[in-house]
Amino acid sequence: MEPIKIERVGASDILPLQEVARKTFFQTFAGDNSEANMKDYLDERFSAERLGAQLNDVNSEFYFATLRGAVVGYLKMNYGESQTELQDEGAVEIERIYVLREYQGKKVGQLLFGKALSVAQEMGAKYIWLGVWENNRKAIEFYRKNGFVEFGQHVFRLGNDDQTDILMKHIL
Ligand SMILES: CC(C)(COP(=O)(O)OP(=O)(O)OC[C@H]1O[C@@H](n2cnc3c(N)ncnc32)[C@H](O)[C@@H]1OP(=O)(O)O)[C@@H](O)C(=O)NCCC(=O)NCCS
Repeated sequence: MEPIKIERVGASDILPLQEVARKTFFQTFAGDNSEANMKDYLDERFSAERLGAQLNDVNSEFYFATLRGAVVGYLKMNYGESQTELQDEGAVEIERIYVLREYQGKKVGQLLFGKALSVAQEMGAKYIWLGVWENNRKAIEFYRKNGFVEFGQHVFRLGNDDQTDILMKHIL
């Protein structure tokens, strides 16, 4: 495979961001959730308004993984008050790391995580943390391989369904 590039997502990239965010979320979770719950989540969480606001948030950063100019995955990181929980000033959250199904298993996720790691190190963060659905074994394995350990749980709401996320952290 040709080299994958990791590029910062700009404020004008809402449409490609929306496309990869919706597609990867659907590929990952449609098999385990009702159509109505998936539709509610995709419409609400990946609306142009919401993504636009996140792209303009000084405490969030998005990165695309691209192959020959096409987006094949993305990363979203949050700092400070924009972290979805904890809001620890010395921490960085990986809120989303998603690779299109057809490009998984080819080290794209590894490259996106490497970017998150270098950004967190440059910021002088003490640790990186994230929440992952307890049944998402593939992602949990990926995080364990990258030095994350479990430290708690929280409830994640998808449509009208409450699901348990495992909280994991990687100490820097
Ligand atoms: C989790 C995810 C980001 C990993 O990205 P990826 O590009 O597929 O993974 P990589 O090719 O970079 O793999 C890196 C390492 O992760 C582990 N890994 C990756 N896929 C795995 C799988 N199916 N089963 C077990 N371990 C796996 C392996 O240890 C692998 O290293 P190795 O190839 O040397 O054995 C990707 O699979 C994905 O987008 N999944 C769907 C979305 C998702 O669940 N995101 C996380 C939400 S919290």
